[in-house]
Amino acid sequence: MEINSQTELYCLIGNPVNKSLSPTIHNYLFNKEEENAVYMAFNIEKEDLKSVVNSFKAINVKGFNVTIPYKIDIINFVDELSYESELIGAVNTVKIDNGKLIGYNTDGLGFLKAFKEKSISLKGKNVLILGAGGAAQSISLTVVNEGVKSLTILNRTISKSRELIEKIKNKFPKIETNYGGLNEKYVDLKKIDVLINCTSVGMYPEVDKMPIEINGFNKNIIVYDIIYKPLETKLIKSAKEKGMITIGGLDMLIYQALLSDEIWLDRKLEIEKMKNEIKKRILSENIEVI
Ligand code: ATR
Repeated sequence: MEINSQTELYCLIGNPVNKSLSPTIHNYLFNKEEENAVYMAFNIEKEDLKSVVNSFKAINVKGFNVTIPYKIDIINFVDELSYESELIGAVNTVKIDNGKLIGYNTDGLGFLKAFKEKSISLKGKNVLILGAGGAAQSISLTVVNEGVKSLTILNRTISKSRELIEKIKNKFPKIETNYGGLNEKYVDLKKIDVLINCTSVGMYPEVDKMPIEINGFNKNIIVYDIIYKPLETKLIKSAKEKGMITIGGLDMLIYQALLSDEIWLDRKLEIEKMKNEIKKRILSENIEVI
């Protein structure tokens, strides 16, 4: 694609972003859709967040993604929040529309899309989430919003699992909840239908670690690990060996990016087809995901 005076700029801000897959995904999409647009990643410092956002407005950037650690701080600089970003309490996508900043969150929807691709509904399910950080917050609120029957959150730091459960109960008082430390003794494993790992346990380079043993779960559970470095974590491998349905983190990553593109371009894209193409490209070209 030729960059010229009409080329529109989209960005990622965060720290660190130097290994992000987002530029690969968005630029692939822009190329495929013949959009005269380019996506660039910028590593920024917290004290520069405000001036960066103002500069984006001044140079007519059309939209940008926000990643760790600014997904909450950015809320101070947007004019409007979407339903999902308000629900989750964080923004990962901003659209700049005639100088007005609108904050969205596609993390939860990206998670759901990867889930629904398997034709499974979360409604009425008993869900166990491991972790209580930023990712766990997006995903737990998203799954509760889908009408799950119960939600258990286990986390190494128990106080954080309790705080997250309290936050959820504030928004969804009727949901059945439970919390505890990162240990199977806190939960009746046989009752669980869906297990979601939102901790960083098992992430490269500590690929031999698992956040929980899966022997005690029913064989028909769904195991979702949001880690994509490595593409297949030890948790996913063990679940596959037991014949469980598994979902890895790469689909969610690509989906959340493509959902941002739909917001920015203001039209529906062939999301599933595009996700598969991008996934294939990442896998075949061995683009660094470890
Ligand atoms: P993210 O935005 O990816 O969720 P985060 O907010 O830093 O990142 O959260 C990381 C999660 O992984 C937390 O739940 C963290 O547990 P603590 O709250 O106890 O810190 C969990 N985690 C990270 N390293 C871990 C480890 N070695 N063992 C168990 N849990 C771990």
